[in-house]
Amino acid sequence: LIRRINKKVRFHFERAREEYAKMTTVLQETLVAMIPIRAVGASEYMYKRFFGHNASYSKHLISVGKLRATIWPTLNFIVNMAVLVVFWYGGMKVIGGALSVGDVAAFSMYVGMISWPITSLGFLTVIMERARVAASRVFEVLDTKSDVEEDPNAVPLVVKEGRVKFDDVWFSYDGKTWVLRGLSLEIAPGEIVAVTGPPGSGKSTLAMLLIRLADPKKGRILIDGQDIRYVTLESLRRQVTVVHQDVYLFPDTIRNNIAYARPDAFMDEVVWAAKLAHIHDFIVSLSKGYNTEIGERGVTLSGGQRQRLALARALLADPKIVVLDDTTSEVDAETERAIYEALTKHLKGKTLIVITQRPSTMAIADRVIVLENGRVKKEIRGAARRGVVS
Ligand SMILES: Nc1ncnc2c1ncn2[C@@H]1O[C@H](COP(=O)(O)OP(=O)(O)OP(=O)(O)O)[C@@H](O)[C@H]1O
Ligand SMILES: [Mg+2]
Repeated sequence: LIRRINKKVRFHFERAREEYAKMTTVLQETLVAMIPIRAVGASEYMYKRFFGHNASYSKHLISVGKLRATIWPTLNFIVNMAVLVVFWYGGMKVIGGALSVGDVAAFSMYVGMISWPITSLGFLTVIMERARVAASRVFEVLDTKSDVEEDPNAVPLVVKEGRVKFDDVWFSYDGKTWVLRGLSLEIAPGEIVAVTGPPGSGKSTLAMLLIRLADPKKGRILIDGQDIRYVTLESLRRQVTVVHQDVYLFPDTIRNNIAYARPDAFMDEVVWAAKLAHIHDFIVSLSKGYNTEIGERGVTLSGGQRQRLALARALLADPKIVVLDDTTSEVDAETERAIYEALTKHLKGKTLIVITQRPSTMAIADRVIVLENGRVKKEIRGAARRGVVS
């Protein structure tokens, strides 16, 4: 009986968990995209979706509650019936003289003693099934394999010069369509290279592969002659920094966001990085300066400010190779020029890859690489790069 009830309880908990997950996803989507949702008039739609999941979630929880409400009283009833039987049967025997009153009293006490374990069985059933459903979810997460694994014989990456080479790299996200098709590209030490190309041409993918968030399906990526597949992830990601297109900031202070890769950095180092990224003046204009919290409890930053903060973070990390993925797309042209002037001065000798669509950014590069359909379409050097319009 208990087993059959278990099954039912588990079924409802599982459904309830699924619905809960869907419900929170809708909620999250809605909160993140509040303005666009309102702008396209999708509020009603989101509202319906949320309530659909919510109703289903509560339905399953109520089912569990109902089961729980039946198991316990039923078990209680059985136990109490047993006590009744003991007294009735024992009473008859006492009258008949076969048992003493003491025997009956002792017996009824024994029944009372085993009643608690039996009733708690019903109670524990529910708790156990809930834990089992929750545990299955935890194991799902624990069992997920990372896309890349460190080679057992991995050695630390040694960057002496900062030469980057993509050697006939093929990559696909889904195993069906190729995103990079035989990309070959060599970047000399200390060179500033701009990578451009239409949306979806594989620019961000190239950056992602360089820090091994995934591995090429075919081909190799070399840094100073070392295949990055055989170096430790820590040494690779410490020396190669990618500032991603979608900047991620933590709900923490501005200082901690900049010093994220180097929590032990001195304050003057943090300020130095912020100045280089042209965000220092803005930070000190805030009443709490570098201790201002970002996010819900603090300031909301504009796109350009977020990008400059991410840039400061990358500079403080002091990598040997830097990839900026559209990092200054929301910074105004004049500030951008000032940033790159400071950057090129400071990053002298370091390898800088700038992914961009802006001709003004391409103008600061030594060379412009145009990607199309996952391979290099053309390269532009010298003065001609100023005329590139993508
Ligand atoms: N995580 C992913 N899963 C599946 N496909 C992806 C993923 N990320 C990108 N893609 C696909 O890979 C292709 C290349 O994407 P990528 O982000 O590298 O382009 P991009 O050149 O950086 O474009 P943009 O200029 O818009 O940033 C696109 O067709 C895109 O749809
Ligand atoms: Mg991109």
